[in-house]
This record gives sequence, structure tokens and C-alpha cells, in this order.
Amino acid sequence: ERFSEDKEAMKRKHESASDGPMYISPVNRFDTKFPFFRQPKEIGFFSQDSDRQFRADDSSLRYYCAPKPECDSNFDLKAGFDTFIKKDDSVKERLDDLLRWVILNREKFRPPDADKNPVTSLCTDFICWRGLLTRVLCTPYEQREGWIIAVIKLRGTFYLCEYDTEEKKHQITKETHRQLLLQYGGFKFEQYMTSKSPSEKPETSVPVNNNEGFCSVVRSRLDQHSMVFGGEVDCYSGDKKEKEYVELKTSREMDKPNQLRNFKKFKLLKWWCQSFLLGVPRVVCGFRDDDSIVQRIKTYSTLEIPKLCQDVHDCWQPNVCFNFCNQFFKHVKEVVCESNSASVTVFTYLPQRKCIVHEDFGEESEFHFLPEWYTNSWEQ
Ligand code: A3P
Ligand code: MG
Ligand code: MG
Repeated sequence: ERFSEDKEAMKRKHESASDGPMYISPVNRFDTKFPFFRQPKEIGFFSQDSDRQFRADDSSLRYYCAPKPECDSNFDLKAGFDTFIKKDDSVKERLDDLLRWVILNREKFRPPDADKNPVTSLCTDFICWRGLLTRVLCTPYEQREGWIIAVIKLRGTFYLCEYDTEEKKHQITKETHRQLLLQYGGFKFEQYMTSKSPSEKPETSVPVNNNEGFCSVVRSRLDQHSMVFGGEVDCYSGDKKEKEYVELKTSREMDKPNQLRNFKKFKLLKWWCQSFLLGVPRVVCGFRDDDSIVQRIKTYSTLEIPKLCQDVHDCWQPNVCFNFCNQFFKHVKEVVCESNSASVTVFTYLPQRKCIVHEDFGEESEFHFLPEWYTNSWEQ
């Protein structure tokens, strides 16, 4: 079975013969008008429990607890480190939980005017994690870290999955105690700032377990590309009538001008992309000292972040990120034409060469990420 759109795409590919790498420089090529980006709308959610098991509910959603001014908020982010229940990062989850959600919510993909026959296509161009989109958006400003994105086209939908580069795998093997402690601090901060229900206070004497997570699934559109993506949300703030999520962060307190410059240039870029994509309006950061004690808590309004960075020479621009992403998606559509769950195309960003190359692999390859239970779920 071949989709008619696939035939069109293959014809275009043949005519343009543009099957080479995608070049990124000069970056100002993407400095044009901000492309159309539809406000992300939540279409569902799910949780991962303390054993990292999928749950089709909001049981892992946490509630934001703003520290009261009279209370001590010099949180010690090292506290309880020896009891840390750490998620096993060697287990590669790929898109699995997102796909579980898709199977359970296929009705949500039915166009409003369609007949009541079983849903045979998701009518969505791209499905992926929000983290992958953040990675793509930051690419024009990424000089060092490459990335690998595997793409499978199934029934007209492109499924995108990120893989660790060799450099990243190498980094993981030499992670230090210090790095692990800092990583723990991020999760400990979440514990200090959230509770299990709106009426409860934070419970800070129990071990931190980063297996637990709550994911929001949103639908959006970038120019010609419709997409559905999932992203982890740290907590929910109940002080407004409307649903409002909050992103929590930690960062080293800055005392030198050049630290503030780097914070704006690199960190705020990532924070803005991450929260803007899901429509999370606020980012709350705990600034810590070298002893992992929180010195100051600051709230950023996501939409204001780009303005804060304008005073830095040669800083990032939101339109560049989104125009680049738009071009990359167009490139993916040109390269991967045929719906074929047995074939995977791997796109690799090479920062030194400032280009994205691609290569095809078969069903047996390590880059094949769609589980049989998912592809089989389409065959009735
Ligand atoms: P920080 O927010 O203090 O950096 P997130 O902020 O995306 O909700 O992630 C929560 C925590 O996960 C982070 O805390 C950090 O400790 C850890 N984390 C996130 N991304 C990471 C990465 N790429 N490598 C290592 N740790 C990461
Ligand atoms: Mg998080
Ligand atoms: Mg966070």
C-alpha cells in the first residue's frame, strides 16, 4: 500500500535531484520573518510512575509551591544525594511511551469532518519528543555538539527519534561524581518546589526518584508542517483559572559579566525553546552557589526571554531557530518520500562542517526505533 502523497513526494525528489547534505551556514540565511507557528494546544497527557511504567493519567503531575518570603528558601540541593533513586539511563526508551499514548488516543487524530471508519492515518506530518525539537531549534547556534535524528515514515507520518552521538556516549562513560551531584540538584530543587496535591506542602524528607514524570502531548503547526509532540512538564500552578504549567531550573549564581553573557547566550536559548514549544508560560530558576545552596529564586516569563538576550552581542534570535526548523522539516520530507516502516533514514548534524548528512538503514539496524507492537497496531 502506497500513499498518493508519497508518489508526489517521490516525483518531486526525482525532479529536484536534491538528495545531498543540507548546509546551515551562513546562519543569517534564516534571519527572515518568523514563520507561522500555531500556538501549541494540549491534546492529552500521561504519566510515568516511580518504576518508570506508563500510566494513562495525571498521577505524576506535581503542583507548584512558591516559597513564602518569610520561609527559608536556601535549599540545600545536595541533601539526600545518597538516597537518590536514579532513572536507568542505559534503558533507551525511544518513542515508546508517546506511541503508547497514540495507540490509546487514535480517535483524537480523526479529522472533524471524516467518516466513522477506523482511523488509518494520523493526518499529522511529524511525531516526536519536545526535546528533539529543542535540539533542532538550537542547531544554528550549536558549534560543538552534533546530533543524530532517525526518521521513519509510516502511513504518511514522519516519526523522529534522537540517538546519542559517539561523543555523547563517550561523555557518559566519564561522568564524574560532581556532574552526578549537579544533576541530582536539579531534581532535588523540583522536590523543594512542588507537592503531590494543591493542598499539600513539599515533602522533602523522602528520596528523590527521577523515574516519575508527567508528559503533556500537544498539537501544533510550523508553516506547512503539522506536528504532535510530547514533553515532560515539571509542575502545574493552580493559582490561575486556566491551566498553567511551570518549568523549574537550577543554575550557578552569576557574579562576573561574562557568566551572565554565557547564561543568556546558551542557557536561555535552550530554556526558551523548551518552554515556548509546549506553551509553558513561566520558568522558575533556583540560582545556587558552588556548595549547591540556593541563593535566589527568579521567575522568567517565557515570552520575555528573547528580549532579555538582545543586549548580548551576536546573540540568538527566535526567528532564526524557527526558520531553520522549517527548512529542516522540508528537507526531511524531500529525502524520506516513501512510507515504509522497514526503512529508516538517519540525519546527522556535523557541527564542524555546518551541514546535515543522511543515510538509509534497514529494519535490523540499531536506528530502527518503531516497535512491532506499534506497527502491528495499524494492521487490522
Ligand atoms: P536543571 O533544571 O537544574 O538543569 P528539566 O529542567 O528539563 O526539567 O530537567 C530536570 C533536570 O534533569 C535538570 O535539572 C538536570 O539535572 C537534569 N537534566 C536535564 N537535561 C539533562 C542533560 N542533557 N544531561 C544531564 N542532565 C540533565
Ligand atoms: Mg523536567
Ligand atoms: Mg526543569
